[in-house]
Amino acid sequence: MKITSAEFVMSNSDVAKCPREPLPEYAFIGRSNVGKSSLINMLMNRKGLAKTSGRPGKTQLINHFRINGNWFLVDLPGYGYAKVSKKEKKTFQRYITDYFRKRQQLVCGFVLVDIRHEPQQIDLEFMEWLGGNAIPFALIFTKADKLKPEAIEKQVQDYVKVLLNTAWEEVPPYFVTSSTNSMGREAVLEYIEDINRQVITK
Ligand code: GTP
Ligand code: MG
Repeated sequence: MKITSAEFVMSNSDVAKCPREPLPEYAFIGRSNVGKSSLINMLMNRKGLAKTSGRPGKTQLINHFRINGNWFLVDLPGYGYAKVSKKEKKTFQRYITDYFRKRQQLVCGFVLVDIRHEPQQIDLEFMEWLGGNAIPFALIFTKADKLKPEAIEKQVQDYVKVLLNTAWEEVPPYFVTSSTNSMGREAVLEYIEDINRQVITK
């Protein structure tokens, strides 16, 4: 897919105030610091579009970006970030889950996991929660530039095994990416384009 425009639309903490336009929407979720905002910039080929940071907890709101004038990308705060007060942490979790349950335009969530780590409980739980709520999602492995090709393959296969041994009968669609070297860019964009084709009626 060719990206012709990527505009920031708005940030907010309330799903009811998100943009009204009935455009298909894709949301990036995962632990803080996993690389959600960086991946958005890599896919859009626009460095400062989504704000990134080496310190976890950078993205704190629901951020909408309108792409090519006809679909939305959403950058969400991370889950599992302990260095905020308990109250604040609860607010994150609540508006993240509200967002996923209530956002009619959402056609697919992307759950990001760091390819270097073995499956983390919080990610497995979040995917199970999505499944339980019948919310479609795909899995994105991030930071693949940090591993050699053989290690990438091993990490992916190990992850898939854990999914099949826990809640899942089949493996969700997955992508191996790096925001540093743009690995996976075309595959993710094609996946989105394919869904757009099915849902956008002109
Ligand atoms: P929060 O907004 O805090 O939830 O984090 P986030 O998931 O949006 O992560 P962000 O994109 O801000 O990236 C966190 C850190 O990881 C930054 O220092 C990035 O430069 C780094 N990073 C992100 N993606 C990659 C990648 O593909 N490769 C490498 N090497 N570093 C990455
Ligand atoms: Mg972020």
